[in-house]
Amino acid sequence: MEDRILTNEQLEEDKFEQNIRPEKLEDYIGQTEVKENLKIFIKAALMREESLDHVLLYGPPGLGKTTLAYIISNELGSNIKTASGPAIEKSGDLAAILSSLEPGDVLFVDEIHRIPRFIEEILYSAMEDFTLDIIVGSDSSSRNIRIDLPPFTLVGATTRAGDLTGPLRDRFGIISKLNYYTVEELTEIVKRTSKVLNSPIEEDAAAELARRSRGTPRIANRLFKRVRDYALVMGNGVIDLEITSLALNRLKVDSMGLDDTDYHLLKSIIEKFNGGPVGIEAIASSIGEEQTTIEDVYEPYLLQHGFLKRTSRGRIVTRKAYEHLGIPCPDNIE
Ligand code: ADE
Repeated sequence: MEDRILTNEQLEEDKFEQNIRPEKLEDYIGQTEVKENLKIFIKAALMREESLDHVLLYGPPGLGKTTLAYIISNELGSNIKTASGPAIEKSGDLAAILSSLEPGDVLFVDEIHRIPRFIEEILYSAMEDFTLDIIVGSDSSSRNIRIDLPPFTLVGATTRAGDLTGPLRDRFGIISKLNYYTVEELTEIVKRTSKVLNSPIEEDAAAELARRSRGTPRIANRLFKRVRDYALVMGNGVIDLEITSLALNRLKVDSMGLDDTDYHLLKSIIEKFNGGPVGIEAIASSIGEEQTTIEDVYEPYLLQHGFLKRTSRGRIVTRKAYEHLGIPCPDNIE
């Protein structure tokens, strides 16, 4: 999650994701509204022979923000350059990226909310007027120079739209929220992945995998790989419901897609804090996870499915969570 020093495994996963990533909007499953809108805006930009307005994509991790950025550049017939907020440490880093852009390019900035504030200001004029203001020299001999940039489209991705400053957010003409996928959509994604990888999966197995993937294509595709391993080694290579259930149980992914960390989180609140309300800092230190990881990765799904509730005094575990975990629920809990 944090500044990633890529391990081999992550690199491999990135490569795997790139291979199975759809390249055109028509192959992208789900997020119907976002897709329909983008289709119109892209078509209009092409008809006017102008660059597409800057696009901000936000929502929980793994829902396809990067995939959409690549699709936008494919649909525009342009090149894509990529950068990541936390990797931009000096204003020169951003100036170098911006001055390398060519007309019509897409610049994808992942985790854009993590660009340091003092650097973010460089983006304002770059996005608004396609100009780059930089200071050259030092002390008495320093001066401002202004460089014209070609028209380009910034596609920013963030898990937290609320962390963007007003001025930055205002410079995006298109702001789209990605939501968790339905089981039906994820089933289609699993079936598509199975076709692309030439590893057949049975319909009921695809649906089971989808149900247990927390509404998230990245998780569905990651689990698909593991289930495929079980099918190869323990079965006859065909991914059926039986091998899928066995694999997912062994991977400790439950019927709702909750994993070890979700259990740890919910159980901690129940056992150490009497079910809450408890503050996010206390939860974070009690389970040894970063606060932002809990807020961005774990909580949204637990909130959406009613296992957890946010109140002004902190988080509380719901009756549904007690029942799902098989822990007797006190009478006063909703
Ligand atoms: N792979 C990852 N996300 C996808 C999506 N939304 N549609 C198709 N394939 C995907």
